[in-house]
Amino acid sequence: MRYPVIIALDPPRGEDPVRWSIRIIDLLHGGPAGYKIGLPLLIRAGPKVAGDIASVMPADAIKVADLKLADIGPIMVLTASTAIEAGYTHVIAHPFMGVEGGLGELSDYLRSVGAELILLASMSNPGAARYFDQFIDEFVMMGARIGAWGYVAPATRPHIIRRVKEVLKKTPKPAAKIVSPGIGAQGQRPWAAIKAGADYEIVGRAITRADNPAEALERLYGRP
Ligand code: XMP
Repeated sequence: MRYPVIIALDPPRGEDPVRWSIRIIDLLHGGPAGYKIGLPLLIRAGPKVAGDIASVMPADAIKVADLKLADIGPIMVLTASTAIEAGYTHVIAHPFMGVEGGLGELSDYLRSVGAELILLASMSNPGAARYFDQFIDEFVMMGARIGAWGYVAPATRPHIIRRVKEVLKKTPKPAAKIVSPGIGAQGQRPWAAIKAGADYEIVGRAITRADNPAEALERLYGRP
């Protein structure tokens, strides 16, 4: 069975990133819907190793490169292409850059290679309420305009997930996905984001640092 979970592969310091990641992917088999790598892995291990890790994920798994891109368009394309060429299928970017000279170029590039854009609608840290949350509606409308596959919305703040879902209904892409980090180590309970309207929960340490990651996945997601 596929759980609506994307596993965040953030190897702890002192671990070999490739061995640590491949062990977890092997232990979890096809249980999770996808896997996510971020800068801790990419910077330490490089794109070649990130590619080796992607190659052991199930073929149909969502393979997210959490680059949190925020740059001018051509540079975001350069950075994203490294992850796409390594085998990743989805890229996370910040929305603040806007479309012109920024996300427009990135989304055109991703479309041209059959990859997908995920925009941050807000973030899970409490400080995000001060700035990010002021623009959620605009970010979601903008994402729909450029064909974003989905949005990151925080499991720690379910009202933001509900807000993204509401705004999505008014866009031409109401079925765009919501992916939500903040389960376990950041305090939220499993399924809380899904119940608020998310499609996938992103889970890292609560599963990857468990003595038995497969048992932890089953314990957290075996029943709603
Ligand atoms: P843990 O170990 O806390 O890992 O389950 C969570 C993963 O999700 C990432 N993260 C976020 N990513 N927006 C994001 O795009 C967020 O608000 C956010 N909060 C956490 C984090 O980098 C880690 O990989």
